[in-house]
Amino acid sequence: MVLNVNQLTKKYGKHTAVDNISFSLEKGTITGLIGPNGAGKTTTIKCLTGLLRPTQGTVSILGKEISRIETRTYIAYIPEMPDIYPMLTVWEHMQFIAYAFGLDNWKAKAESLLVQFDLSEKRNELCKNLSKGMTQKVSILCGLLHNPQVIFVDEPMIGLDPKAIRELKKIFCELKEEGKTVLISTHLLDNAESFCDSVIIMKKGKAVWAGAVDKLKSEFGHTQQSSLEDVFLEVTDDDSV
Ligand SMILES: Nc1ncnc2c1ncn2[C@@H]1O[C@H](COP(=O)(O)OP(=O)(O)O)[C@@H](O)[C@H]1O
Ligand SMILES: [Mg+2]
Repeated sequence: MVLNVNQLTKKYGKHTAVDNISFSLEKGTITGLIGPNGAGKTTTIKCLTGLLRPTQGTVSILGKEISRIETRTYIAYIPEMPDIYPMLTVWEHMQFIAYAFGLDNWKAKAESLLVQFDLSEKRNELCKNLSKGMTQKVSILCGLLHNPQVIFVDEPMIGLDPKAIRELKKIFCELKEEGKTVLISTHLLDNAESFCDSVIIMKKGKAVWAGAVDKLKSEFGHTQQSSLEDVFLEVTDDDSV
């Protein structure tokens, strides 16, 4: 397993935002971390990336604790609000990241990412002039420059138009083909269903269900034609879980 989460709990004061969750991610897969607003998705991702210290539990990536600084080089974290500098160009962003990570020979990788993300024509454009979708792509592109093995993406589809969403899905699928492991948080279920191998459903800090989408449907007595949304609402509405 590429990532192991063991009994992770995160409290903010007395409030338990993430409540004793455990799961593993396999290499070359896309997993959707889904749940309503406030379920604890962002807090989970921040614990998995080492940005927040868990109250309890452990997170390891490729066998190493996330608290060890070298583990951070295995991962990319793409936050919900892209951390983009408006007065830098697309290419300058990559230069900046390369210097920050101390990367050698990054230019060929940067060039190929520009082509893959269809941003070659925008390489010298200031980021303040880019659309929301392009800004999101620059944010992801910067995250990939150091060749991470695990990519955490928090709510990437919000505010994007259908074309940008389709492009992003294609990029995530390509990452998977390259053998990367991708965890995407989203409350937009129709998105999750179309490209995730499996899902983890969160509700009030707990992981209430985890597994493949087709298994989820059959377990809850739905046909494969019913939407993930129908099943999701059933899973998260049931107060016994
Ligand atoms: N910095 C914080 N301080 C206190 N409470 C927080 C903080 N961040 C999030 N929370 C609370 O933790 C819970 C989970 O939030 P979050 O992880 O952002 O959920 P999601 O990403 O699923 O919407 C919510 O009840 C939220 O209000
Ligand atoms: Mg969130």
